[in-house]
Amino acid sequence: MNHKLIAAAIVAGAGTLMCSANTDALRFNPEAFTQGALTMPDGQEVTFKAYEGIYYVRNVEDSTYQTLNIYVPDKLATGRVPVFLRTYVGGYAASTAKSPSPADATGRALKEGYVVCIPGSRGSNSTVTRDGRTVYTGMAPNGLLDLKAAIRYLRYNDALIPGDSELIFTDGTSAGGAMSSLLGATGNSADYDKYLKKMGAADARDDVFAAICYCPITDLNHADMEYEWLYGCTNRGVRNLSDAQIAISDELAAECPAYINSLGLTAKDGSAITAENYKEYLKGFLLESAHKALQEGCEISDTIGFTFYQDKSGPMGGGRGPMMRPDGNRRPPVGDGRQAPSFGPGNAPRFNKTSDFVTGLDLDKYLSYVATMTPLKTPPAFDQMGVLIDTPSPENNVFGNEKGEPANFTDFSLRHRLDNPKASLDKEMVQRIAIMNPMNYIGTEKSTVAPNWYIRHGAKDRDTSFLVPVNLATKLMNSGKNVDFALPWNRPHSGDYNLDDLFSWIKTTLQ
Ligand code: DHB
Repeated sequence: MNHKLIAAAIVAGAGTLMCSANTDALRFNPEAFTQGALTMPDGQEVTFKAYEGIYYVRNVEDSTYQTLNIYVPDKLATGRVPVFLRTYVGGYAASTAKSPSPADATGRALKEGYVVCIPGSRGSNSTVTRDGRTVYTGMAPNGLLDLKAAIRYLRYNDALIPGDSELIFTDGTSAGGAMSSLLGATGNSADYDKYLKKMGAADARDDVFAAICYCPITDLNHADMEYEWLYGCTNRGVRNLSDAQIAISDELAAECPAYINSLGLTAKDGSAITAENYKEYLKGFLLESAHKALQEGCEISDTIGFTFYQDKSGPMGGGRGPMMRPDGNRRPPVGDGRQAPSFGPGNAPRFNKTSDFVTGLDLDKYLSYVATMTPLKTPPAFDQMGVLIDTPSPENNVFGNEKGEPANFTDFSLRHRLDNPKASLDKEMVQRIAIMNPMNYIGTEKSTVAPNWYIRHGAKDRDTSFLVPVNLATKLMNSGKNVDFALPWNRPHSGDYNLDDLFSWIKTTLQ
C-alpha cells in the first residue's frame, strides 16, 4: 500500500484495521486517491484516480489480501457507468489487489469510462502467524467470501464511489473464472451469511449484473467424471495411460451419464439433452467455432477431425446440392491451422463465406488432437491426491484445512485412496463443496443469479472438460438468462482475449 494512502486513510478513518465507535471502517473516502495513467496499446493515454489498499471487511484476518483497489477514469462513460470487477485469482491461490493493465480488460474498461475494482482475496497459499503458529487463511470458501465482501463494499458505498453498483460486471479466468461464475450465481444467498457476518462484511446485497467467465474451472465435484467421460477415448492412444489409470478413468466415466441426465438440460429447440445425445450437442459448439474461424480467415487442418465441403452455387447448394471439393471433401492443408488465432487477419480471408462449410466432426479425433497440443491431466484430474499419486492438485489444496493440509473433496477419491480409504465425506466438506459450485444455485430460489453471462472456453483448452462450461452455459440459458457462450477456435487455457468482442457484448447488456 502506498504510504500517502495509508496516511490519508488513517486521517479519514477509512480502511484502517481500527474501528472506533464513531467511525465506520467500511466507509469509502472519496478524497483518498492518487492520480494515475495508463498508455493503451493504441497509444491513447487513460488517466484515472486510484484508491488503493482499502480494507473491505471490518474484521481483517489477512491484511495482505483482504484489500481492494478502485480506479475511476477521469473521463467517465456517459449515462449509467458500469463497475468492472476483475479478480486475478489463478490456481485457487491467494491474489493481492492489483493495478489495471493496458493489456487486459481492466485497462480497456477504464478506456471505456468504466470504474474498475480489483480486489485481493485469500487462497490456498495465504497464511498469517497466530500465537506463533502458521495459519492458512484461504481454504474454500474463504476466497469467494472475500470477493463477495468486496461486492458488498461497492454496494454499501454506492453513493460515494462513482459508477453504478447495480451494474457490476465480474471478470476472471480459470479459477478466477470459477470465482466469477460463483459471484454471478450465488448473489445474496443465505448460505454465505454467517461467514460474511463473522468477517464483518458490509451489510449490503452481493448480487451482480453480469459475470464474465473465461475457462471457469468449476463444478469441481463432478469435474473428474466429466473429464474421463469425454477424454476416455484417448486413454490407450495419445494419453497413453497405465492399466491402473484406465481402471480409474473407466470408473469415473461410468458415473457421468447419470450426472448429465440429472441436470435436465434442454437444447435451444426445447429437446432434452441426455448422455445419449450430449456429444452431438457439444459438437454443435465446436462446429460453430470452426466455422467462425474459417469465415474469419483461419485455415483449419484436415487432420484434426473436421470435414469440409465447397459448394460453388452458394449456401447449401442453391438447388444443385452441395458439391464436394475436388480433393474428396478434404480441405487443402495450407499450414496446419493450429497456430491461427480465433479471429483471423480480417483482410483477404481465404475462406469463401458463401461456399465453404464445415460439414462434420469426428469428435474422438478432435479430442486426440487437443490432447496432443497439451498433455491431458491424469485421472482423477482434480481430486487426485492419494488416489494414484500423492501430489495434491490446486483443488485439494484449497479444500484443505487451517494447518495447510490438503484434502479430498469427492466421495469417489476418498473411496479410492490407496492408504486409508473412507466411505464418504464429512458433513462440513459436503457443505464447503456445495457452496463452491455455481451449478447448485442456477435455476433455484436460493440466490439472485446475474441476468447476463459471457462465458468462453478455448476450443483447445484441456484444463477441464468441455462439459463444465457447456453445462454451466446451458443451465443458465435454460433458466432464462442472457448468455453469450462460445468455445473460441484454437484458444488454449487463457482469458481476457478478443476484448473488442467482450466490450461490444457489454454494451449490448446496457441498452
Ligand atoms: C487453474 C488451472 C487448472 O488446471 C486448475 O485445475 C485449477 C486452476 C488456473 O489456471 O487457475
